[in-house]
Amino acid sequence: MDRVNAVARRLPTWVVYVAGTLPFLWLVWLVVSGDIGADPVRLVERKLGLTGLQFLLASLAITPLRRIGLNLIRFRRALGLLAFFYIALHLTAWVWLDMGLRWSEVVADLWKRPYIILGMVGLVAMLPLAATSTNAAIRAMGPLAWGRLHRLAYIALIAGVLHLLILVKIWTGRELAYAAIAVVLLGLRLLPRRAKPKPVRAAA
Ligand code: HEM
Repeated sequence: MDRVNAVARRLPTWVVYVAGTLPFLWLVWLVVSGDIGADPVRLVERKLGLTGLQFLLASLAITPLRRIGLNLIRFRRALGLLAFFYIALHLTAWVWLDMGLRWSEVVADLWKRPYIILGMVGLVAMLPLAATSTNAAIRAMGPLAWGRLHRLAYIALIAGVLHLLILVKIWTGRELAYAAIAVVLLGLRLLPRRAKPKPVRAAA
């Protein structure tokens, strides 16, 4: 574990941002090369949603991993912002590619596929997190209030996973695995934290 922590300390965060955009570039390549199957819009939409969920889970796994000695905290912000990037693109793909920017169809689709509303709840929960991701925002809010606000990530996770569980007609191992990881992360969040040792006063 110490060796992994040492490597992580030396790894610049931009590497995570660059690596994190690779799934997007791969998707662009598939579209450009035409090697994207019979229903490209649905595939793009789904791949963006799934990648967003994966980054959200990864960002929420950072704190529990620290409890077992793996310190990847430097990458949490990058992972969270990548999750937001993919989910924002996921929304764009739905509104633009799927609905063709026809707002009457957008509203009709919400009635037809109400699980999209759950997705929207997830995205709305992520907005303040993305907006307060800068060091200046953390300083302005104070770490306590910032930490409380960032509990919204769990709302985004619950909404995102329910959205997935409802939209697929049959649950396979994939859906159950995402749901199980989300339950474990939420469960760990609810576990009481180890109390910090009180400072020992020097004897007079
Ligand atoms: C404004 C917000 C959102 C909208 C409009 C939206 C819309 C959609 C649509 C239309 C689909 C495709 C359904 C189909 O193929 O029949 C989908 C799939 C999906 N969405 Fe969303 N979604 C939103 C937010 C989210 C969020 C917040 C997450 C996760 C954090 C998420 C994760 C997924 C996943 C994992 C899939 C399925 C991917 C797959 O089957 O491979 N979505 N969403």
